[in-house]
Amino acid sequence: MGIYVWGTGCGASQLISQGLEIRRISAFVDSFSQCVDFLGRPILRPEELPVTDCELLIVTTRHSGEVAGQCSRLGLDRERILFLKNHCRLDDMNASCTAAEKLLGRELLERLLPRQRVISTPARLSSSALPESELSGDYVRLSALELICRRLGARVPGAAAELGVYRGDFARCINSLLPERRLYLFDSFSGFAPTDGADAAFQAAHENTSARAVLSRMPNPDMVRLCPGYFPDSLDGLEERFCLVSLDVDFARPTLDGLRWFWPRLNTGGCLLLHDWGNPELPGVAQALEQYEAELGSPIPSLPLPDMKGSLALCK
Ligand SMILES: C[S@@+](CC[C@H](N)C(=O)[O-])C[C@H]1O[C@@H](n2cnc3c(N)ncnc32)[C@H](O)[C@@H]1O
Repeated sequence: MGIYVWGTGCGASQLISQGLEIRRISAFVDSFSQCVDFLGRPILRPEELPVTDCELLIVTTRHSGEVAGQCSRLGLDRERILFLKNHCRLDDMNASCTAAEKLLGRELLERLLPRQRVISTPARLSSSALPESELSGDYVRLSALELICRRLGARVPGAAAELGVYRGDFARCINSLLPERRLYLFDSFSGFAPTDGADAAFQAAHENTSARAVLSRMPNPDMVRLCPGYFPDSLDGLEERFCLVSLDVDFARPTLDGLRWFWPRLNTGGCLLLHDWGNPELPGVAQALEQYEAELGSPIPSLPLPDMKGSLALCK
């Protein structure tokens, strides 16, 4: 019975230098290596892994999804696999690994995991601020928001706002990351305006919310100003300057209205996050930006984000 290590590259040598003694490793597993041993231990092909003898398999390569598939075909259960590089999945691939702590001890395990993890929950959103929703799987969107808020710091004055709030999942993150900023939340809280292009199912999917329910989910509700109703009528004479705006209304007309109102009111150094800009299912969002840039007569400096819906960060 012993510990096996998948991979004979940098990840494996890092594992040794971080404290796993070579004498504790029964063998390495590698499908590509042309050598017969690594650091004096034999190298096995995946199909040679003695599954019944394997108490713990430590996977040091970045091909975690592929290795998980091979292990499942070999009959090695996930309780005995520790992935050091969670490269292809956003969830915790080690959730069911019970053998690692038993064999390595908590101290060594804690030393190995944080340094080698590629994907993790954004640090400042890891606790109660993270809603249970599709959003919690969108690491890039959340992490970008976290870093943008860090960059704003105290340098850029102004309030924060979201146009298109739905149940407040993203708004809740903004409210958590910018606890001292006023946060304006604009939504009809009953779906899309009738002529904007939502079909019956899309409309129905966005009706199930309310301003009161959204407010109750905010970690800092005292800073929140709810602006219910169809935008731009819901502005009701508001005048304000902003450091951060999230624009997420899915269709061309409200997106254009949002750009026309918020962009001139965004302070220098501020950021407007245009959700769905790269989403082929909602082409009106990118079309609205094109039209607004034509009205301005120049392109807005921006950075596309590889999040789940292709957000665009517009920077002032
Ligand atoms: C995709 S959802 C927003 C999701 C939210 N930003 C999140 O990430 O959790 C789009 C929202 O835009 C709102 N909306 C669309 N057009 C609007 C308009 N003209 N005025 C107010 N709200 C609008 C809809 O009611 C819907 O709740």
